[in-house]
Amino acid sequence: MTMLPDTLCHLNGQTLPLNEAKVSVLDRGFIFGDGVYEVIPVYGRRLFRFDEHMARLARSLDKLRIHNPHGRDGWLALARELVAAQAATDQLVYIEVTRGVALRDHVMPPGLSPTVFVMTSPLRPPTPEQRHHGVACVTARDFRWERGDIKSVSLLGNVMARQISADRGALETVMFRDGWLTEGSGSNVWIVHEGALLGPPRSDLVLEGIRVELFRELCEEERIAYNLRPISEDDVRAADEVLLSSATKEVLPVTKLDGDAVGHGALRGKPGPVYGRLYEAYQRAKVAQSI
Ligand code: PDD
Repeated sequence: MTMLPDTLCHLNGQTLPLNEAKVSVLDRGFIFGDGVYEVIPVYGRRLFRFDEHMARLARSLDKLRIHNPHGRDGWLALARELVAAQAATDQLVYIEVTRGVALRDHVMPPGLSPTVFVMTSPLRPPTPEQRHHGVACVTARDFRWERGDIKSVSLLGNVMARQISADRGALETVMFRDGWLTEGSGSNVWIVHEGALLGPPRSDLVLEGIRVELFRELCEEERIAYNLRPISEDDVRAADEVLLSSATKEVLPVTKLDGDAVGHGALRGKPGPVYGRLYEAYQRAKVAQSI
């Protein structure tokens, strides 16, 4: 068994070492994957885009009819307590809320106390190698369920999707449903076409990443055209640039897709200019927007 670190975590009102935290075998998170989560980046012990993460947590809980056990300030206090206790100053805060503990029955039992778990870990940002040369991805059919909008801990589809790229030494699996781009196993996927940043439209099939709205703001600052619209598999393969975004990846250039170099001309197989500008704008936003 992997040795768990003894850093502090929070479980149902208690602060305790991670390697001592235990939940019931009848927790609906364990039995059904009946819960939601958030992953929030922390820079210099300050939480980045915290309110946006809280708004999405509330939406995910609402969609599953799970009571939100804390208000915004309660979550912030919990996160800050754990962030202060970690040695690293750049961290990831992981929050999980499940429906709670009950005898096994598919029906949502009313009145349960949600299980609340919060932990932090050191943040491993993309390496300079990944930023300067870009990363390899592979594509696959999106065989997950049709509620990718809910940030649910039922992640088996995403785990299987991620393994497709891991088995081929690639960083992420870019998925298509009926020939249309959805997202990666753990990231949103973007393309650059004629200088504009394009992402798939909001839908039940795709998680609305916190970086989706952030990129709209950064593109406005940088005067880069930004549009969310259906993106075909052909659009992705013909793109000038392909990018990934997530709490941990920030923004990363994809320079190889299914073994083929991404892009055109002198920039073929190299990170492009829109990536470079978004990366710089992102670094400024981290400083300006963390609390
Ligand atoms: N994953 N799509 C999926 C399926 C994701 O799992 C994630 C994030 C994203 C990007 O969302 P955001 O910008 O809010 O991180 C898109 C997190 C980091 C994870 O599961 O670890």
